[in-house]
Amino acid sequence: MQVAIDGPASAGKSTVAKIIAKKLSFVYIDTGAMYRACTVIARNHKLDYGDEENILKAIDKDGIELKSENGEQKVYSAGEDISLEIRTPEISANVSQVSALPKVREKMTSLQRQMAGKTNVIMDGRDIGTTVLPDADVKIFLVASARSRAERRLLDLKQRGIKSDQTVDQIEADIAARDYKDSHRKVSPLKKAVDATEVDTTEMSIDQVVDCILEKIQEKQKKF
Ligand code: CDP
Ligand code: CDP
Repeated sequence: MQVAIDGPASAGKSTVAKIIAKKLSFVYIDTGAMYRACTVIARNHKLDYGDEENILKAIDKDGIELKSENGEQKVYSAGEDISLEIRTPEISANVSQVSALPKVREKMTSLQRQMAGKTNVIMDGRDIGTTVLPDADVKIFLVASARSRAERRLLDLKQRGIKSDQTVDQIEADIAARDYKDSHRKVSPLKKAVDATEVDTTEMSIDQVVDCILEKIQEKQKKF
């Protein structure tokens, strides 16, 4: 079974996807972490974030690996654990430029399809229901107000131990800028798939969102 969860930044995609993956023993694939890893690689090689050819070469050289360690998702590149680094404000501010590069998307999409072909998966991102897994069994589009997403992000950074001197207003502006870029790029923009169910999580707890998605998955499983 393939479950696709798309939506803007900090709508709660990865939090609920991880919980559902654990409950159902599905593999969770965080595609945003892959684009963030591409951005770390570009930065490490001191490349311009628009330099498609050299970024591709650097990705081929360093590689990107998603691993599950003691139930935690880890991201490795060139033998280094970059799980914390991919979440820093510098990487968040530049990931939309790297993720808009068509050949980088082609490479990531192909890797994501390979991973999804092997087992039951729940995959989150921006273009899973529209491009990566257009035939996914369940498609969810999570949204929430920009303010609540900024508040969640600030709390999330603190909980992950990432130091940030950004105010909630600055984070909200950054999130809005990233959403705009992600929604307006030429290749695979952030867009609700026509057959996706939209869930507004602004006033919902994590458990409520999880239950709502589990219900959709169970409905589908009954039809198998
Ligand atoms: O966690 P957050 O919602 O902030 O973002 P993310 O899921 O980690 O994704 C980071 C960035 O990667 C997004 O802003 C997009 O630019 C890009 N992305 C994408 O283009 N396509 C995907 N399937 C997933 C992420
Ligand atoms: O993956 P995405 O960027 O869509 O969001 P996330 O990283 O899963 O969620 C960002 C933060 O919002 C996390 O700290 C969650 O605990 C929190 N969250 C929440 O407060 N209420 C929800 N209904 C969903 C997520």
